[in-house]
Amino acid sequence: MNSWGIIGIGRIGLSMARNMSSKGITVSLYDKAYEKKTNLIFEEKELYSELNKASFFIDISSFIKSIEKPRKVLILVPAGEPTDHVINNLLDILDEDDIIIDAGNTNPVVSFNNKLKIQKNKMLYLGIGVSGGTEGVLRGPSIMIGGHEAAFNKVKDDLSIITSKTIKNTSSFDFFGDTNQGHFVKMVHNGIEYVEMQLIASIYELLINSNNYKNQEIADIFDEWNSTELKSYLLEISIKQILQKIDDKYLIKKIDDEAGDNGTGRWMLNYGIELGSPLSMLSSAMDTRFISRFKTLRKEISEMTNQRSKRYTIDINSLKKAYQFCRHINFIQAFCLINASNKKYGWNISISKALNVWSNGSIIKSSQINDLYFNYSVENILSDKKIIKDLNEYKPDIINVILISLKNDISIPCFGEALNYFNSISSNSLSTKMIQAQRNFFGSHDIKIN
Ligand code: 6PG
Repeated sequence: MNSWGIIGIGRIGLSMARNMSSKGITVSLYDKAYEKKTNLIFEEKELYSELNKASFFIDISSFIKSIEKPRKVLILVPAGEPTDHVINNLLDILDEDDIIIDAGNTNPVVSFNNKLKIQKNKMLYLGIGVSGGTEGVLRGPSIMIGGHEAAFNKVKDDLSIITSKTIKNTSSFDFFGDTNQGHFVKMVHNGIEYVEMQLIASIYELLINSNNYKNQEIADIFDEWNSTELKSYLLEISIKQILQKIDDKYLIKKIDDEAGDNGTGRWMLNYGIELGSPLSMLSSAMDTRFISRFKTLRKEISEMTNQRSKRYTIDINSLKKAYQFCRHINFIQAFCLINASNKKYGWNISISKALNVWSNGSIIKSSQINDLYFNYSVENILSDKKIIKDLNEYKPDIINVILISLKNDISIPCFGEALNYFNSISSNSLSTKMIQAQRNFFGSHDIKIN
């Protein structure tokens, strides 16, 4: 008998199976594809020596029978319909007290309903967000957990073996609440990730279009930043991608600019709307991915628009501070969403706990996370004098950078949104005075006169 079962041996499932096996955790593996292509099992066994100790199954019922009770079944098939299908199937074949663990990027709303459904069948549920990508999951992912605490207590020892060590020297996983909070915290992680990615992409765009910097020089600038408080996994991989070549040409020049997404950013925006919590930076990052998909239209319009040849100078130190400004606002908006959801849903998600879990193994691991964790009042970030002082200090630089982008027709998504947010949140007299006056005129809404 094995102590865990994993369903879905794709990229991430394979890394997870290898990680667990290499740590001496016995695993049973099942993938629908094995039913049709049994040679996949031999290929995987051959490629990865750790998997010699794992048991592979081509039918789900013998897979289930091979797991110790109460069974721990980890689902790593794509989120959405494939996961729903697996969960419904498991409800028919598992026994009472078995634990169903959804480790995909599942919409927290769906995760909430899944918990109820699984509970109704007298089984236990864990909705867990797993960050790290193929490599991170293999070496020690960051895991955000929600669901039945009794189930969490049964898996935590094994999780402490397969995860990384955090800034607090704990293992990079934690329990965030008794329902869908694991998937919620992962969704917020992804929202932060999307904005971070866009900020780096915007900076690259501004630099390369200036015609003053070549790829190697931009990589050198990023490399220098990466040796300071700006260090992050995303910056590190961006340096590698900037220098990556394909057929002797830079990949970044040849790569198609249509960007995909798996939905987590959209769900987070929905939460922001539902809770009235501004997420303008994420909205801009998502809009940029959406606009990227209007490929033909963009080409047509670009042919009707004056494309001036460009050459401009950028103060790299100013750019660095503008980047720091934006990164602060990104976390502020994400933290405020967590606070708003705690309030609305009666949750108790601790922001510092989330930062600790994200500090190693995750895609957003960075020196900034460590800095926020140790040096700022993250649970109540907008009351933190230090962050406001930083933002005031960096503000002239972000204005400079935005001005350069505007004068040269370079779109640098997320920068304007960060500045606008700060200008609004730091103002005690907003344009909404006029909104109230207009609403009062045509809708006879109540207005407050000070
Ligand atoms: C992680 C990532 C991962 C996510 C990819 C792709 O933490 O390991 O967040 O879960 O699936 O980053 O996301 P998009 O396809 O939406 O860019």
